[in-house]
Amino acid sequence: MYFFQDRYVPKEEIAVSPDDRGYYFGDGIYEVFRVYGGKVLEGKAHFQRFQRSADGVRIQLPYSAEELNSIVHKLIDVNQIADGIVYMQVTRGAAPRAHAFPKQSEPILLAYTSEMERPLDTMRKGISAVTLEDTRWLHCDLKTLNLLANVIAKQHALDQGAGDVIFHRSGTVTESSSSNFMMVKQGELYTHPANNLVLHGITRSVVLRLAKQLHIPVHEQPFTLEQLQLADEAFLTSTTSEIMPVVQIDGRAVGDGIPGPVSRKLQAAFEQEIS
Ligand code: PDD
Repeated sequence: MYFFQDRYVPKEEIAVSPDDRGYYFGDGIYEVFRVYGGKVLEGKAHFQRFQRSADGVRIQLPYSAEELNSIVHKLIDVNQIADGIVYMQVTRGAAPRAHAFPKQSEPILLAYTSEMERPLDTMRKGISAVTLEDTRWLHCDLKTLNLLANVIAKQHALDQGAGDVIFHRSGTVTESSSSNFMMVKQGELYTHPANNLVLHGITRSVVLRLAKQLHIPVHEQPFTLEQLQLADEAFLTSTTSEIMPVVQIDGRAVGDGIPGPVSRKLQAAFEQEIS
């Protein structure tokens, strides 16, 4: 069962207007919630970010936080999701194509669940990545449907036989196509500050909290591609990838070329967090 425009409906019954601004302009925002054992991880943080993204693009959310919460939980219940995700998006609604906000249009909410296995095998082995100039706009902190640069970047990585990209702006590392990025140097953790150039990842903040609990020094400060070349370990963080070691960058091994001790320690702590 999906949720679309005020109703719980089977997917086949959903009819999206060709005038939907999500379709014309990518004019909307979204969230991906992770469900473990039927429970939502960090639900509150996801709803807060959803509201922040909506405010950032001046879309009026059609439901209160409580209503959105009950939609998420009802979908998990009716679809009997144990391990999976809830996808939720709001577009500015349907109106004849014109760039300016329409005078009359109602934001439209779409939400659904999907079963998803944890990427356990890949997390044990790690992935390779390639670096790529970050050509996205300057509001990467808003989780909008405008994902074309991310889509092209991900495909670029796959075309090169890599798992993902590491974005940089003129040599300063930002994040990945759909995850945040962290590196470890001499036992200390480095990641780009949560400003307008990266998404304020929920997994990112969980990992930083766990690192502090484990007495791993955390530096939320920008670092360059040159500094990254000297990293002992690196990994991506996201709702779906969890803590995903990056063991090779642009064909060169990161550290020993296998997931390192700090990454594994954080993975173990994350495991506790979700169980
Ligand atoms: N992506 N950075 C970008 C560009 C992202 O798209 C995501 C999430 C993250 C990680 O955020 P979080 O830890 O809150 O999932 C960072 C989701 C999973 C997606 O687009 O599918």
